[in-house]
Amino acid sequence: MLYLLDGLDWGTAPFRALVARALELEAGAAPRRAPGKRLGAVFLNPSLRTRTSIEAAAGMLGIQPIVLQPGTDTWALELAEGAVMDGLTVEHVKDAVAVLSGFVDALAVRAFAGLVDPEEDRAEPVLQAFVDYSTVPVINLESARWHPLQGLADAATITRRLGPDPKGEPLVLTWAPHPKALPAAVPNQVLLTAAALGMQITLAHPEGFDLDPQVVARAGAIAADEGGGLTVSHDRACLREARVVVAKSWGGWSGYGRRDDEARRRAELSSWRVEERDLAPDAGLMHCLPVRRNVVATDAALDGPNSWVIETAHRRMWTAAAVLEQMLAEEM
Ligand code: CP
Repeated sequence: MLYLLDGLDWGTAPFRALVARALELEAGAAPRRAPGKRLGAVFLNPSLRTRTSIEAAAGMLGIQPIVLQPGTDTWALELAEGAVMDGLTVEHVKDAVAVLSGFVDALAVRAFAGLVDPEEDRAEPVLQAFVDYSTVPVINLESARWHPLQGLADAATITRRLGPDPKGEPLVLTWAPHPKALPAAVPNQVLLTAAALGMQITLAHPEGFDLDPQVVARAGAIAADEGGGLTVSHDRACLREARVVVAKSWGGWSGYGRRDDEARRRAELSSWRVEERDLAPDAGLMHCLPVRRNVVATDAALDGPNSWVIETAHRRMWTAAAVLEQMLAEEM
């Protein structure tokens, strides 16, 4: 069974091959179609890019997308194993997934981190329920820890802009201000993506806004294997040294259980907003979107010549198509 859960499910070389295939499709290559196949896409959280790009990519390959929003257009899902369901939830995820996987050829799911219990977020209970109860392949549309389709699009832009082998190129992933603590799936994925490309990664954040040390260690090991490396900095002057700056906010790993303290500190950290002057002349600025303009990054930075933000969002369709080809199209 094929799964796309963290983007490196098949290894770093297949990840880079998927990125290359997405860029071929973007350049006009004919997609390998999968007519008659059906994709069930379940969104427990809102989406603009992921939803439209997966639907558009499915259409490109002749796949019928069936998009569901539990609690809105289908029954509210119970996620807890062994729950006595005498409250608001109507259908258990194990029943929903078992039934849906009889209707479709692949299932995809979005379920963000709860940000309450770090071990629960590490365990990814919703994504894991889909893996456990589905009889068809599962695609992660952003879970508590990972956002593989965003990672593929980021990698496509980096290789399109820096060349097919960006090994050793300096990339800074910088924490940015935001009114509230956000899940870390995107920044975690940025680390894995840059590591798979063998880049020289700097993870820049104020003290206390760390990422899961397990994720940082894993990304560092992959980066080293691929000819790159990973260091952590609390000095945002490092942004000026980067060819690629990825801006994102996240709630600190050490902030679990003390988000009020973190919120007070966040109010003092507006100087971490990314501005044009933070970027070297040949650097690219990336952000997954949606972005809080003039909080995370300024209009001038997001709309200026260094911004790779919109082109990366557009690549979400081509990278989704490459994934669906790999998982659903017949071999030629
Ligand atoms: N970047 C991203 O996943 O966007 P959406 O949340 O709109 O899907």
